[in-house]
Amino acid sequence: RLDVTETFDSITFPGHMHTQDSLNYATNFTFQDTDTVIVTYPKSGTTWMQEILTLVLSKGDPTIAQTQPNWARAPWLEQYYCPDVLKFSTGPRIITTHLPYHLLAPALKQSNAKVIYVARNLKDVAVSYYHFHKMANFLPDPGSFPEFLNAFLKGTVHYGSWFEHVKGWTDHSKDIQNFLYITYEEMWQDLHGALQTVSRFMRCPLAEDELMLAQKYCSFNSMKENAMVNYTLIPQEIMDHSKGKFMRKGKVGDWRNILTEEQSCLVDDVYSSQMADSSLSLNGEW
Ligand code: PPS
Repeated sequence: RLDVTETFDSITFPGHMHTQDSLNYATNFTFQDTDTVIVTYPKSGTTWMQEILTLVLSKGDPTIAQTQPNWARAPWLEQYYCPDVLKFSTGPRIITTHLPYHLLAPALKQSNAKVIYVARNLKDVAVSYYHFHKMANFLPDPGSFPEFLNAFLKGTVHYGSWFEHVKGWTDHSKDIQNFLYITYEEMWQDLHGALQTVSRFMRCPLAEDELMLAQKYCSFNSMKENAMVNYTLIPQEIMDHSKGKFMRKGKVGDWRNILTEEQSCLVDDVYSSQMADSSLSLNGEW
């Protein structure tokens, strides 16, 4: 069975990629000031930001993006293979994590590493996560969508509560010296602007033609075809590509095709109560 569960600090993780050792390694990690950490709740634009960063740092040249799998150039800190990847890394590192703030803060506070937090509308996250559960054999059977939505809102799914994740990282953003908060929706509405924001944050200026190249290669259509990020390299028994695509739709507001009016209201109610004490300024869809 692939869908074993690892529990760490009351949060569950896919046991296929996580162990107590790997989670201890992540939470005690020695960050370097030159590290850039992409932080996301699952299905919020992780792979997209990995691609954006790779392309900004290579000034629009797609060679690295099209020859190195994303997990090798921006490994997930908490997954068991991370130490092996970082052993061979030279130069500034890109590290990815889905860990909530309280688990990573003690280690992170010891450095001036840059943090990029990507958030996405929770209804779209729930829908994307549900579909991913259906194709990823290392995740538990999600049951029906209403069943999954209830577990998602309760925070009993893998990686814990979306609310705790978003609140934890955004409420403490001032405790992190170099922190960039960006949403999937902003990236979607204005990818060119998002690339400029990331290039400014990374202090890596790009000329207009380099920005245009970067934009081309991190578009949904390019990434969908790029085997280094579309997970088609992962064997069928781990991700069943006949049951769905990792690069599924890449849309804003797809939840409208799935959630009923009642489910949407339920999410809004839970959002209002869970986020009442959040410092996050709400915008648009949120
Ligand atoms: S994971 O498993 O946590 O790493 O997933 P993550 O990469 O965070 O999220 C996957 C969703 O992001 C969409 N995606 C994109 N959307 C628009 N443009 C680009 N370039 C892009 N790349 C990835 C991907 O399709 C998943 O969303 P859904 O809604 O399921 O399509």
